[in-house]
Amino acid sequence: MKLCITGGAGFIGGNFAHYWVNTYPEDRVVVLDLLTYAGNLQTLQPILDRPNVRFVRGDIRDRQQVEALFEQEHFDAVVNFAAETHVDRSVEDPEVFISTNIIGTQVLMDACRKTGVSRFHQISTDEVYGDLPLDRPDLFFTEQTPIHASSPYSAAKAGADLLVQAYHRTFGLPVTISRCSNNYGPYHFPEKLIPLMITRALADQSLPVYGNGANVRDWLHVSDHCTAIDLILRHGRVGEVYNIGGHNERTNLEVVRTILKALNKPESLIHFVKDRPGHDLRYAIDPTKIETELGWKPQYTFDTGILQTIDWYLTHRDWWERILQGEYQDYYRQMYKDRP
Ligand code: NAD
Ligand code: TYD
Repeated sequence: MKLCITGGAGFIGGNFAHYWVNTYPEDRVVVLDLLTYAGNLQTLQPILDRPNVRFVRGDIRDRQQVEALFEQEHFDAVVNFAAETHVDRSVEDPEVFISTNIIGTQVLMDACRKTGVSRFHQISTDEVYGDLPLDRPDLFFTEQTPIHASSPYSAAKAGADLLVQAYHRTFGLPVTISRCSNNYGPYHFPEKLIPLMITRALADQSLPVYGNGANVRDWLHVSDHCTAIDLILRHGRVGEVYNIGGHNERTNLEVVRTILKALNKPESLIHFVKDRPGHDLRYAIDPTKIETELGWKPQYTFDTGILQTIDWYLTHRDWWERILQGEYQDYYRQMYKDRP
């Protein structure tokens, strides 16, 4: 199989590239990534020298480049992770979210149509469903929950989902969509809650908790997300949406306290700060469809996954310290200076 992974130098795409290359070593994998601030070639370093892995620096919005690559490679499947992903950045500057998340998805699907790709898989998010109230623990997001986005980030992701479904209905493009809950694990960029809190706590810096810390997220270890995508690619029904989540709801304050306890740091580091505008209250996935239809089962609970993740950050300081120092952006230049 010839697989294109867009956004593969980011957190989940990078983990997925590792997963695929190690699980299906005979497959050809091409990673297409613009290397924005969130992309880091060091994440791919352990697999870059494999003969059937190719990295291409490129923009999914660049129609000419994308179509030339697709005509050259003739992919069987495309998994689209490439996106602007940080909600707080989308509040500051929505425009790039609209262009990358929506137009970029359209350009990729046009290239799939032109070159006869057998499967376009869109990595979406549970944030397209909006949020659930804190006082209704009986409510969960199902695939039938109406789209009801809150932030420019989730609205742009929702726009892309609608376009993917329209390309399936109108042009017969063979698509699938997955909507996963919050991920955590290795190679997570330290602007997001869990890696931010781990790296700041290690430096005895204050931990900024938005509002009163009561907002709830449903945390899934990134490796469980990867196995779910694999199942959808191999056995999922074309045109379908699959929700992915493992019933691991925690308040933000619970998450931060768990990290402090594991690192043996004091709760006095917690600092409540002004809330995020439009802050979603609670996300919670009902994973019945992917469990019953595809037999997916997560390997990690939050309690086991968070300890594995903290351990990874302790043993891979070089990876995140280079990010905090900004050095990771020189890495591409160094790695590729002799490769035209
Ligand atoms: P990330 O921000 O870590 O990585 C995004 C990657 O996309 C980066 O490598 C970046 O360089 C690349 N990129 C950005 N714009 C690009 C462009 N125009 N062309 C090519 N590449 C570009 O994101 P992530 O957390 O790994 O998320 C990956 C996908 O999963 C996203 O689509 C996101 O919406 C979705 N998702 C994330 C989560 C989560 O908890 N992180 C949960 C559910 C769904
Ligand atoms: P984040 O990792 O940005 O993911 P998302 O907003 O996509 O769910 O944030 C997770 C939760 O943590 C969210 O409720 C906002 C909160 N949060 C903080 O309290 N402090 C922070 O510094 C950050 C980055 C997030």
